Amino acid sequence: MPAEEKLPHYSDDLSKPFRLDTSTTYVDGGSGDRYWRDYLQLQCFPIDRFAPDWPAKPDAFSGGLAAYAVALQELAATVLELVAEGLGLDKSFFLGELIGGGTLMNVNWYPPCPDPSLTMGLVPHCDRPLLTVLSQGDVSGLQAKHRGRWIDVHPVPNAFVINLGHLMEIVTNGLLHSVEHRAVTNSSAARLSVVSIIMPEMDSRIEPLPALVSEEKPPKFRPFLFREFNEAYTAAAANREDVLRLFMIHPSDTIGSQN
Ligand code: OGA
Ligand code: NI
Repeated sequence: MPAEEKLPHYSDDLSKPFRLDTSTTYVDGGSGDRYWRDYLQLQCFPIDRFAPDWPAKPDAFSGGLAAYAVALQELAATVLELVAEGLGLDKSFFLGELIGGGTLMNVNWYPPCPDPSLTMGLVPHCDRPLLTVLSQGDVSGLQAKHRGRWIDVHPVPNAFVINLGHLMEIVTNGLLHSVEHRAVTNSSAARLSVVSIIMPEMDSRIEPLPALVSEEKPPKFRPFLFREFNEAYTAAAANREDVLRLFMIHPSDTIGSQN
């Protein structure tokens, strides 16, 4: 779309259901760092509620997005059913308010960067919810932290990447870990990624699942409302350890390494 058509949508107001922006809205320790990223952020599910806020142009946008959002929601529900089954829980365990807060979508565009050593596409972070679903096209750039080292997560044709988020770590009392990830830039090819963030309801109460807590495995996290978490997450610039520590019962405990 020409710049003049896009311009009215630029905003850093997170409450807007559809907006364009650059870099990230995290206040990164006051460093003023900026990131090599343009993005479109929108609420994509439930469709009835949010489609009226989507732009009318280009013509194919709304129809394509609606179809994608429905299929995406089904995929996420299936994965969550499998995770619940794997944990020995009722299959539908995660399907209520923990995913009932609507789905937020980031469409990230990382233009070629003349000197990738000077900036990143996206700051290291963990996503907020139980899980996010990422489609990363065919250009590499996603990295995940594995045993203290950043490893490339190269695209697999026609496959999604599922990232477990902070809430999965908290509700499973640390059994499943949220994955810290970032996006790096490259100097030759632009990269597009589509990230769908399946949010809990703002008023849902989050705590380690009683079924996964015992005398030998006492709860590591205190109960809280997602609303509180959401504010803390933005303030802590999404940093994995800073965010988790705010909700730990014994903040001095070490936070499990990722594997
Ligand atoms: C995100 C994210 C990674 C990528 O938007 O939360 O982690 O590869 N994106 O664009
Ligand atoms: Ni992410």
